Amino acid sequence: MCGIFGYIGRKEALPFLIEGLKKLEYRGYDSAGVATIKGGKIQLSKCVGKISFLEDKLAQKPLTGKIGIGHTRWATHGQPSDENSHPHQDCKSELAVVHNGIIENYQELKIQLSGRGHRFLSSTDTEVLAHLIEENYQGDLLSAVRKTIETVRGTYAMAVISKSDPKKIVVARSGSPLIIGLGENELFLSSDIPAMLKYTSRVIYLENGELAVMTPGGVKVFDLKGKEIAKEIDLISWDPESAEKGGYAHFMLKEIHEQPNAIRKTIAGRIQPDSHKIHFDELTMTKEEMRTINRVVFTACGTSWHAGLIGEYLFEQFARLPTEVEYAAEFRYRHPIIDKNTLVIAITQSGETADTLGAVWEARAQGAKTIAICNVVGSTIARESDGVIYTNAGPEIGVASTKAFTTQLTVIYLLALLFGKVREIISESEATKLIQDLIEIPDKLEKVLLGEEGIAKIAGKFYQATNSLYLGRGKGFPIALEGALKLKEVSYIHAEGYPAAEMKHGPIALIDKNMPVVILAFAGRRYEKVLGNIEEVKARGGQVIAIATEGDDAIARQADEVLYIPNTTEALSPLLAAVPLQIFAYYIALKRGCHVDQPRNLAKSVTVE
Ligand code: M6R
Repeated sequence: MCGIFGYIGRKEALPFLIEGLKKLEYRGYDSAGVATIKGGKIQLSKCVGKISFLEDKLAQKPLTGKIGIGHTRWATHGQPSDENSHPHQDCKSELAVVHNGIIENYQELKIQLSGRGHRFLSSTDTEVLAHLIEENYQGDLLSAVRKTIETVRGTYAMAVISKSDPKKIVVARSGSPLIIGLGENELFLSSDIPAMLKYTSRVIYLENGELAVMTPGGVKVFDLKGKEIAKEIDLISWDPESAEKGGYAHFMLKEIHEQPNAIRKTIAGRIQPDSHKIHFDELTMTKEEMRTINRVVFTACGTSWHAGLIGEYLFEQFARLPTEVEYAAEFRYRHPIIDKNTLVIAITQSGETADTLGAVWEARAQGAKTIAICNVVGSTIARESDGVIYTNAGPEIGVASTKAFTTQLTVIYLLALLFGKVREIISESEATKLIQDLIEIPDKLEKVLLGEEGIAKIAGKFYQATNSLYLGRGKGFPIALEGALKLKEVSYIHAEGYPAAEMKHGPIALIDKNMPVVILAFAGRRYEKVLGNIEEVKARGGQVIAIATEGDDAIARQADEVLYIPNTTEALSPLLAAVPLQIFAYYIALKRGCHVDQPRNLAKSVTVE
């Protein structure tokens, strides 16, 4: 949550800051601000609202200078307001600080600082950093920042500029991401890679407990004791175009359409073309180690948690391993009973979700083996897990997760098959058939996407609903949850996902003629029972939108609307079924005039607990 961008070089900093912040806006968008240094003075502009508001303000009164830092905020401490926007300053306005994270002991620090005469202008936790650095400054900004972080508890990615040290950006990281990009005679600073992809593909990842000094001449990284550290430069292979909208109205729509290719990239190199053998380069576990696993725990948040639920079905079915799925925030604090034979699989698009990271730490502390299924290369969770499997979906910018979800399902499917093979639960020929089914999925998804117009029309009929139910059985249940989450986060329509069989135990009371009920009714073991649920909804006047398998003409006589997906093996139907529900949510949100890529109150990566 919150995005930081910085620039130091030979050009004017402001255009870079604005452009970078716009790319980071998905991380928070309730206020924004920038600060530069020119002529030995700090120049600062900030305001509540989206970055476009800040741009308008800057158009009236631009900032100049070849060094600058910027921030887009998702409020934690202090409501969105001009005063609470970053950057924050010290009493004499000699320095400016931007911060992502939470300073947990800020209240006691604020009392102490106020007692020593410091004046506070905001109700944020961040402002204490500015005043502490002010107090600790004795001619060297790096030392002042280092001394300051000795006093604070919590998480931070911070960047500081000071008129006393006007050719430096000092940055520090603990718990929130910060990446330095190396350009030609210029350096960039960002909370994520896509925001600076346009300018450079050479990056340095700051680790927890590291500080860096960025100057026009280069960057130096230090540990907390002030000892310089030699850092590796990573080369990012993402195409800069992947962080642009590419002609689509919204990132969400673009990312929905990218799914066939994203899945092709997820599979590429992991299935041997002739033998159909599965191979994950990044997975450091040997077959012997895999055989020692007697239990699997998926841990994640939000959409990634829904992918974990599908994982539970797949690992039980293909690998016959006892599998559980845990909300990361619950798992990490619950004294989970796990040991060296437990495999904890953390699923996360961003690799920065605070609770999922905490769950990985907890799992490792208990001696479990950890794997991250992650999209963002080099992210914290990817680096803190024993092994990582990247989903290769490319940058996902829309706050509503789409391609990350279907590529997570792709990885989980392959991983479950791999464990099934190693454990000799599924035969070579079964595995070959199931892998062939996966290889065919991208083409089938392309077919689903051709139905976009029809789905948009159906969305047009239901966009005024205020409540909705999503029901599914078996692997349709997690998709019901995911469909409901997509709808509520982008359209603000109340949507509940339920196991279809549970409907009779309560939610059925909600059904009337105004209640759209989306029912996952694709082919599979539970199909007939789902038909029964459709009858029950219809008998109570509800309106049914069914997700069914092509060729199922009969269902059209029961349901009010049908969205068809191509036939595939039951284990892959959820992946296909998720996509029409994404499109449905998108068009409903559009009809309601919602901000699809930046829904209210949300942020793309939730880096606070
Ligand atoms: O980056 P992560 O996958 O760890 O994020 C987890 C959730 O915050 C995320 O899936 C969230 O629920 C999405 N907005 C859903 O579309």
